[in-house]
Amino acid sequence: SDTVVRRDRFSRGPARSFLSSMDADDRIFAADLDVDRAHVVMLAEQGVVSDDDAEDILGALADVESAGFDALPDGEDVHEAIETAVVERVGEAGGKMHTARSRNDEVAACIRYRLREDLLDAIEAVLALRGALADVAAAESETVMPGFTHLQPAQPTTVAHWALSYEGTLARDTGRLLDAYGRVNESPLGAAAFAGTTFDVDRERTADLLGFDGVVTNATDAAASRDFLLEAVAALSSVAVTCSGLAEDVVFFANRGFVDVSDDYASTSSIMPQKKNPDTLELVRATAGDALGAYQGLATTLKGLPRAYNRDLQRATGHAWTAADSVTGAVEVATGAVATADWPAEDLEAAAGEGFSTATGVADALAAAGLPFRTAHEIVALAAEAGADLGAVDDAAQEVTGESLSDLVDPELVAAALDPAASVAERDSTGGPAPAAVREALGDVLAGIDAD
Ligand code: ARG
Repeated sequence: SDTVVRRDRFSRGPARSFLSSMDADDRIFAADLDVDRAHVVMLAEQGVVSDDDAEDILGALADVESAGFDALPDGEDVHEAIETAVVERVGEAGGKMHTARSRNDEVAACIRYRLREDLLDAIEAVLALRGALADVAAAESETVMPGFTHLQPAQPTTVAHWALSYEGTLARDTGRLLDAYGRVNESPLGAAAFAGTTFDVDRERTADLLGFDGVVTNATDAAASRDFLLEAVAALSSVAVTCSGLAEDVVFFANRGFVDVSDDYASTSSIMPQKKNPDTLELVRATAGDALGAYQGLATTLKGLPRAYNRDLQRATGHAWTAADSVTGAVEVATGAVATADWPAEDLEAAAGEGFSTATGVADALAAAGLPFRTAHEIVALAAEAGADLGAVDDAAQEVTGESLSDLVDPELVAAALDPAASVAERDSTGGPAPAAVREALGDVLAGIDAD
């Protein structure tokens, strides 16, 4: 007949490319084929379509898959294009594929199906980074280095303790990604446009075929909600923020000569021949901008949307892909940079004593000998201004208490506290930087990485 399929009357004008999500839909091409298969299998099992029609449609889908995304006919989006391609192959009966569904539940299923994969990639990447940090911790538990607060020398610590500090944050970030995964991994299929369907669909069955853990029960919620995107991008943003701090530390350490970033992860200058710059880490640091920009774009797109489906949702999806790609890529590079960096132990230990960063340990030694900590703090603060050595501590003790240092404490203990390595070894409280405490923590860290 020469009646025009109603669908072809619309969206053909000058706004065609503005309306279309085709350019972005390559990402959910494979997902849509699987979603189509699951739906058709379920429809056949429920007796909604015949086995013969289902078989033809499944054959056509296999053919469409091997022809590839670029071979798809024109369409407003990948869902429409695949349906057209199926009809081209099996004739009118191909149109039965879209029985008891809408593109609204279809696209939501495709996004969830694909995002699962992307979240797993992100989780794998974060686990690898945690593994690299644990390796650094195992190798550098005795490597004393300066620790900073306010970017001022604060107390000596170790490279291992620094590395495990990021592993700890990334362990929680992993938990956030896994939580997001759990809520992404629910099937909206069978919701149709938003109001369910008259057909006897088996929503649990399509969920099962697609590996979803269950269904999003309310059909409107299933078709129209994108909170799962927001949660996933929030978790990815948290990873990006963590990695930006790690990257900033390495940039700062490289500036001070505390770490040697491998040539593979550094760049030089086109004009200044002597330069070796930690560019990869700077790009990792910048990725927080991509992730948080995606979060902002997504949340702003979703805010105030009425129920149920609105085409705004088409523009929400891309933000999640941006966040997933940029964050996973950055985490992989950070892992390589961490795994290949060198930590110059002698320079680090020398630097660890600078700026009287052992002062807290000296005050602790005085307090352990019975002085109120506040008095000890006074003595050491005075000594810090007067030379920051044993003699200065002796003079300061005299001035503050009227007694000589040796009457207050064994001066050997003070001398030991002034040594960065000894100072670190003394701080063996749970979670502290003493090599023994770090080695103990490392057991739990490795078990945690294994469990995740
Ligand atoms: N490409 C669309 C999207 O990504 C598919 C859903 C279109 N549905 C509709 N009712 N216009 O959201």
